[in-house]
Amino acid sequence: MPAQHDIAAETELWDTYAASAFKDDAEPSFCWTQYAGHGPGPELLGNPRSALEIGCGTGRALAYLAERGITARGVDLSPVMVRKTTTKWAGTGAEFVCSEVLEYLSEHEEVYDAIYSIFGAVWFTDPGRLLPLVRQRLKPGGVIVFSQPPAIPGAYGPQGMYKGGFAGKAMFTYRYSYRPAVWERLLSRAGFRTADARILDAPHPGHIGTLLVRAVAP
Ligand SMILES: C[S@@+](CC[C@H](N)C(=O)[O-])C[C@H]1O[C@@H](n2cnc3c(N)ncnc32)[C@H](O)[C@@H]1O
Repeated sequence: MPAQHDIAAETELWDTYAASAFKDDAEPSFCWTQYAGHGPGPELLGNPRSALEIGCGTGRALAYLAERGITARGVDLSPVMVRKTTTKWAGTGAEFVCSEVLEYLSEHEEVYDAIYSIFGAVWFTDPGRLLPLVRQRLKPGGVIVFSQPPAIPGAYGPQGMYKGGFAGKAMFTYRYSYRPAVWERLLSRAGFRTADARILDAPHPGHIGTLLVRAVAP
């Protein structure tokens, strides 16, 4: 049986996350990995004039881009998070929209130089549905870049994930994990001209690395 996304329940889960993850005193910053200052930076996006972050969470990366003159829009499922980011980062020019990503990309025809996700919506959305839509919303030569934890060996496809401890209200979502070669195949199937997926090592041996994927639209 395929993953059973219940968007209302996932929204509640991410609202709970927003209440704990959002920090009022955070500064703009852009990092693809889970280790501050480790790995490449926004140069992977090329030199975009417009960028869309999908599952933009705390908004720090978008605020960083907006401060550098890029037209920066973020989409996130959580109304709690979007309220917080809109208030916090309004002065940077970044714009935050509350929507489910598949719905947003289906309904809005605007196109971007870059679409990206940092442990964001690409991780939590069926790539068979998401990647073709992203491809449609990129300008010619536009890029998709995303990062997330690498798949655990032998555990591929949608992975069910409960929020918090294993007691209390059953809130869960799915995250999608594949080997790098499979991500490349999914991207070329979605119409991308080139796709490169690799695992970046953590700064310390034996720590969790980062899957980093970049693909270019024709
Ligand atoms: C791990 S968090 C975000 C990480 C983000 N880079 C940050 O700095 O906060 C994942 C985010 O993706 C959002 N998200 C999950 N599924 C989504 C979906 N289907 N559509 C839009 N946003 C989604 C969640 O609301 C959450 O804010």
